[in-house]
Amino acid sequence: MSKEMVVVLDFGGQYNQLIARRVRECHVYAEVIPYTKTVEEIKAMNPCGIIFTGGPNSVYDEQSPHYDRAVFDLGVPILGICYGSQLMAWMLGGEVAPAPVSEYGHTEVTVDQTSLLFRDVKKTSVCWMSHTDYIKAVPEGFRVTATTASCPCAAMEDADRKLYATQFHPEVMHTEEGMKILHNFVYDVCGCKGDWQMSSFVKTTVEALRQKIGSGKVLCALSGGVDSSVAAVLLSKAVGSQLTCVFVDHGLLRKNEGDEVEAVFGPDGPYDLNFIRVNAADRYFAKLKGVTEPEKKRKIIGAEFINVFEEEAKKIGAVDYLVQGTIYPDVIESGLGKSAVIKSHHNVGGLPDVIDFKEIVEPLRMLFKDEVRQVGRELGIPEHLVSRQPFPGPGLGIRIIGEVTPEKVRIVQDADAIYREEIAKAGVDKGLGQYFAALTNMRSVGVMGDFRTYDYAIALRAVNTSDFMTAEAAQIPWPVLEKVTNRIVNEVQGVNRVMYDCTSKPPATIEME
Ligand code: XMP
Repeated sequence: MSKEMVVVLDFGGQYNQLIARRVRECHVYAEVIPYTKTVEEIKAMNPCGIIFTGGPNSVYDEQSPHYDRAVFDLGVPILGICYGSQLMAWMLGGEVAPAPVSEYGHTEVTVDQTSLLFRDVKKTSVCWMSHTDYIKAVPEGFRVTATTASCPCAAMEDADRKLYATQFHPEVMHTEEGMKILHNFVYDVCGCKGDWQMSSFVKTTVEALRQKIGSGKVLCALSGGVDSSVAAVLLSKAVGSQLTCVFVDHGLLRKNEGDEVEAVFGPDGPYDLNFIRVNAADRYFAKLKGVTEPEKKRKIIGAEFINVFEEEAKKIGAVDYLVQGTIYPDVIESGLGKSAVIKSHHNVGGLPDVIDFKEIVEPLRMLFKDEVRQVGRELGIPEHLVSRQPFPGPGLGIRIIGEVTPEKVRIVQDADAIYREEIAKAGVDKGLGQYFAALTNMRSVGVMGDFRTYDYAIALRAVNTSDFMTAEAAQIPWPVLEKVTNRIVNEVQGVNRVMYDCTSKPPATIEME
């Protein structure tokens, strides 16, 4: 197992996990811990480096997060970033004040290339700034190693004590030389060898889960999505049949999906775990009968999920741990909480209230989506599950506009299967963020053979997106759309028209409801 680790001391900035992720990309294990952890606790982690993160506060405000000066006596190299750089300056006797000019966004920075931190870094490059305070005077023993037009101290260091700081954010993509700077910090300053790989994460996590759970009983709500699948397999590796996965098939899954999940996780699959599939389609259809309002549909599907799950959990009896496939972006999203509700997301967030258990286990909490996929590959989970595109909790229920019926589910499942098949065949699936067929609530007149038809219109959607917050309609090659259209109208009974959704998000959303 990897012995090297960098501690990322969290002062409340928005890029904290990103810092850890970048360090992991340098093959050095990194973990984010809150600033409320003591120096003793950090010492016990035996880090080879510490990074103070950014944060929204001003160091000179009394109520702002500060830290114990003893951290500088550990002899462990420290890199302060943004608020972290100001904190370092302020704690060591430098001066921090409101900046005459705040900087935000792309900024040209000039570095002193003799600094170890800036070894092989271009003398002048673009960095990402976001600050209203600045380091007015560096502490004794420090020297300024970078400047911008408005910031006289964009970086400083006391190389003898291995203390480094940047006002800008090396972790964000917009900082051209950011990765090199972080690489220099972990390798040249901290002396790391870089022995960490995703396989180490798997090994360490499985070991830690085993220790924690002992002979306890574990319950997992498995959706077949990437996150819950990876979490379940980690748990299965750790505690085998002490784990029970409950898979609620609400009848709103994509074509054959329920069977595919069962093939991997069920008794004939390769994993050591207990698998319960609940075929609850009829219950869902009964509850959704006559309901057309999108939010109401979402609420019903979410609430019914909890009902079904609770019933199963009661049959299993008291469990010690509940596994959730929470990943880092979920943590941020739920942390925000203040933005307007556009759509109420259905996920397992409601479960803890209704199930009797001691503790939640979230083994993927610090990982980004692509890291989770990497873990999945390490664990040998089939590629079609690991690289699956996102699928919403309420499933096809929100891809059918208006009332949800078994007949409409059949139509959208068949159309979607054709669309996905042709997209994959044409090899255009790789770059797409998400693509699917939805059933509009529109029926129109057509002609098939010599007969008049009055059937539904399918809408095809495909988007390019990196974060799913904004998206652009993808330019699917016309011949592919033509082929898909022909196949859908010919093969899917009840459809006589196919449309392509050209709308971006905003103003539309990715899903239709
Ligand atoms: P929208 O439609 O809001 O979707 O642009 C953004 C992303 O979120 C997914 N999505 C959901 N995921 N539960 C989920 O787990 C939900 O209720 C839900 N609604 C939307 C959507 O598929 C897209 O990836």
